[in-house]
Amino acid sequence: MVNGNLLTSFAVILLFQSVVGSDHWSYPDRNATNVFPQWGGLCDTGNRQSPIDLSLSGALKGNFPDFEFHNYDKTLTSPSLLNNGHTVKLSNFNVQMTLTGGPLTDKFIVEEVHLHWWSEHTIDKIRYPMEAHIVHRNTRYANITEAASHKNGIAVVGVLFHASNEANKGIGKIIENIEFINSADEIGKPVKIEQKLNLREFFPKLSGGYLSYPGSLTTPSCAEAVTWIVLLDTFPVTLDQVNEFKGIETYGGKKLTDNYRDVQKKNNRPVLVVHQESSDAPASLRASTFSLIGSIVVLYISKVLQ
Ligand SMILES: *[C@@H]1O[C@H](CO)[C@@H](O)[C@H](O)[C@H]1NC(C)=O
Ligand SMILES: *[C@@H]1O[C@H](CO)[C@@H](O)[C@H](O)[C@H]1NC(C)=O
Ligand SMILES: [Zn+2]
Repeated sequence: MVNGNLLTSFAVILLFQSVVGSDHWSYPDRNATNVFPQWGGLCDTGNRQSPIDLSLSGALKGNFPDFEFHNYDKTLTSPSLLNNGHTVKLSNFNVQMTLTGGPLTDKFIVEEVHLHWWSEHTIDKIRYPMEAHIVHRNTRYANITEAASHKNGIAVVGVLFHASNEANKGIGKIIENIEFINSADEIGKPVKIEQKLNLREFFPKLSGGYLSYPGSLTTPSCAEAVTWIVLLDTFPVTLDQVNEFKGIETYGGKKLTDNYRDVQKKNNRPVLVVHQESSDAPASLRASTFSLIGSIVVLYISKVLQ
């Protein structure tokens, strides 16, 4: 009897440790080391890991139906903001935001939006000061855990922010709430955002071109379940705004100075580049671009014939 109780206590302690332990992975202190830690499992052994360095010149041309971002412009009422010790994330949306189209053959629903400072994906080796991930679950699957065990389970729209003198409105609203989630004592305790907010304030334009490739979550478990969609349009953020995030505390009161994973091996994966035809550029503008190119060609030919 006593032994049984002891055994149960041991099992509970072990379970507790594995649950807590699994959350105690961390990003390296990049001031001190160039070595990225081993996070275990697929993070170390997988072959379609993310992020990667993306480049237009190495990409394959794709043409798909346009994406349909449904309800992304609707006002969100009291979404949750959470410091989970690794990022700041927005979730618990009262509006169902769904994504269909592009290379996706199912319907995906927004689960959360979180931020990385600096960016995880690089474009031609160039890193951006911030990257937002809009994480979507394939509606075929009941929840994100279940979705993570299927290779078509998750779609993440990655949005890059470039340094500018112009502040980002959506990120500004998160910063107004940072003081409530800043401290390590607040890790795991969501707060409600009371300001009016919609996703378009972060990403004013979602209809342009993008790069897409098969990859993984960029945090443990590093599940290889993600169709990545990285937008070609980037949006302004000020470096002062980015610095506000560098003061957020992770476990033990350490500052989460940055939270980006190193780029992973591409392993010859196809990266598609897709330019959506019905983007915001009016047809007349595209037509005049063509006529401009046409005139240059004519000028060139007439010069050669002289
Ligand atoms: C790394 O260096 C920067 C710049 O000096 C500093 O602001 C930051 O706190 C340092 N990060 C850590 C984890 O010590
Ligand atoms: C997720 O869905 C699976 C399959 O329906 C179910 O077994 C599991 O309990 C669910 N997990 C959570 C955390 O809801
Ligand atoms: Zn992320």
